[in-house]
Amino acid sequence: MKFFVTSAKGLEELVAAELLALGISDIRTDKGGVAFNGSFEEGCKACLWLRTASRVLLVLAEFPVTTPQELYDGVRSIKWNHYLTPDMTMAVDSVLRDSAMTHSGFVALKSKDAIVDSIREICGRRPNVDTKSPDLQVNVHLVKNRCTVSLDMAGDPLDRRGYRLDRNKAPLRENLAAALVAFSGWQGDTPFYDPMCGSGTIVIEAALAAANVAPGLLRERFGFQRWPGHDLSLWKNVLSEAKDSRKRELGVRLRGSDRSPGAVDMARQNAGRADMARFIEFSSADIRTFAPSTSPSMIIFNPPYGERMGEEAELTELYKAFGDLLKKRCAGSTAYILCGNSELVKHIGLKATRRIPIWNGPLECRLLKYEMY
Ligand SMILES: C[S@@+](CC[C@H](N)C(=O)[O-])C[C@H]1O[C@@H](n2cnc3c(N)ncnc32)[C@H](O)[C@@H]1O
Repeated sequence: MKFFVTSAKGLEELVAAELLALGISDIRTDKGGVAFNGSFEEGCKACLWLRTASRVLLVLAEFPVTTPQELYDGVRSIKWNHYLTPDMTMAVDSVLRDSAMTHSGFVALKSKDAIVDSIREICGRRPNVDTKSPDLQVNVHLVKNRCTVSLDMAGDPLDRRGYRLDRNKAPLRENLAAALVAFSGWQGDTPFYDPMCGSGTIVIEAALAAANVAPGLLRERFGFQRWPGHDLSLWKNVLSEAKDSRKRELGVRLRGSDRSPGAVDMARQNAGRADMARFIEFSSADIRTFAPSTSPSMIIFNPPYGERMGEEAELTELYKAFGDLLKKRCAGSTAYILCGNSELVKHIGLKATRRIPIWNGPLECRLLKYEMY
């Protein structure tokens, strides 16, 4: 089977490394994700285990399209009754680029007609459309007149782990937080700190990775579980293997702090839902008082970037304080700071030894590495 794992721009290499670690080796890294050939079981494992990816797509067909009729015929030729019954709901999402057909809404509509007609012909009834929570999410990609039709195996994007019901302002998506930890190379072997933890996403993702917890174990379900013929025993095996590989103990502590007591409270609750509370200590503190208790330590945080007017001056002082505290109190440790404002970064006043481009939604950021000697 052919799969395509989508990711945020800049995270493709991390996703490829994660797939290799799962034993999936027939991979090809592309812009916006990683293609792989594998079994359905490997597709399920990818859904359950990938930390830095966005979606796992099962590719059903690829064909050239320049006219609506070619699109209809291509989509109609797929054996939809393998994935859909008249009692299920479905939705079609379409993305278009550099193609003769230019209206994505029309492409989605035409594809939906082909799917519905195919099921009606076989079953005598048609499935309904539900754009909010469909049983089957179909993706149609039309790029340079080449159409790829896929099913979204996960349904909801993979970053929705399920533990973060409470969000502080400007929370990082879970898969992006996991990517910061992966880029740092932290292996759970030194103390870990996020001194601006907000809702706790970075420190929770770090704990999940260190404890070898498959992030999908926290989700209620995946899209493919609603498909007809879903192999329950295969999925049970994948799940029980993941449950057995969780570590019960960690050799190090993780700590999250934030100056907002409300944020710390949210972070605690999120960590509880992620079953990581026993590994993480949370406290309310200003970063200006931060000092790791041992060295070396790993420090990762994403400070406010100042998107609102009037915040600039206050943030300039805060970024200066980062430089001071890293220099004076963090000797021997490594810090990674995610920042979307290159002007503010200059006020840290230290030389970053690595600058990794990362997109936080549409915002181009840098993950900056500071090694303190
Ligand atoms: C961009 S948010 C971090 C989001 C977090 N990574 C998450 O996923 O929820 C920045 C956080 O820094 C905190 N903060 C701002 N100034 C601070 C300070 N001087 N000391 C400690 N925390 C501060 C804010 O309360 C906010 O929660």
